[in-house]
Amino acid sequence: MPDRYAVIGHPVAHSKSPWIHAQFARATGEAIEYGAIDAPADGFVHEVEKFRAAGGKGLNVTLPFKGEAFRYCAGTTERAAAAQAVNTLLLDRAQPFGDNTDGVGLLRDLTVNLGRSLAGAQVLLLGAGGAAQGVLAPLAQAGVASIVIANRTPARARALAVRVPGVVACGFDTLDGRAFDLVVNATAAGLDGELPRLPQGLFRPGALAYDMLYGRDTEFLAMARAAGAAACDGLGMLVEQAAESFLVWRGVRPDTRTVLAALRAG
Ligand code: ATR
Repeated sequence: MPDRYAVIGHPVAHSKSPWIHAQFARATGEAIEYGAIDAPADGFVHEVEKFRAAGGKGLNVTLPFKGEAFRYCAGTTERAAAAQAVNTLLLDRAQPFGDNTDGVGLLRDLTVNLGRSLAGAQVLLLGAGGAAQGVLAPLAQAGVASIVIANRTPARARALAVRVPGVVACGFDTLDGRAFDLVVNATAAGLDGELPRLPQGLFRPGALAYDMLYGRDTEFLAMARAAGAAACDGLGMLVEQAAESFLVWRGVRPDTRTVLAALRAG
């Protein structure tokens, strides 16, 4: 019997995780089966307990349950505690244990797949919700020169910024005159209305605009390209966070290049 894993979220019907993990299993020879669980808004814990009772070894957690998964766990890794969110559950211990591989997924996509050095970079993080929270500490630890968090609701940006020394918060309207090497869109804009207009001159020469969303060409990426920046969606982050979860569960890091290339090819 293969060990059982799944992604849990709502909605999950279009999740690419089962396909990605099937490729990883085939390439590494690990005997796993990976499914998808669509949980009702109030049914996260029930579905997890059911899966665990049936022998399930681990779950990936996606929207909207990452915060609830963090609170559900008896223990977590430091990186999950910093994010206050769990995207990887380990269920084969006495108590449920949580990890978060989103931050390392973003960093690996930026540095390995996209070949960017973060050393000395001026970074702008757009958004202050769960997605931004998950990547702030890993970005801050990657040797960047500075991080500014800009959010539609500046108070939320300030609440997030105080968690990491040296990080500055502002609203979108106070970005004028500042320029960055890396701009990461961690807002839900694109799914949830349009991003407010960003100032001209936001991108330094050679800058990269990175949208954590994937599967569509967002207004943010179009705007960045028009301003002369390189632009990339979050598909690589998706594959890299999956590979890190696979490593956490199985002790083997799958190669991501062919999987990402296949997804890009459609
Ligand atoms: P999640 O936990 O999934 O990130 P969230 O906590 O609702 O979701 O956060 C969504 C983020 O996208 C927030 O930064 C939100 O800005 P506010 O804090 O001001 O709500 C941002 N966001 C959502 N829609 C947006 C839009 N149309 N324009 C700009 N920012 C938007």
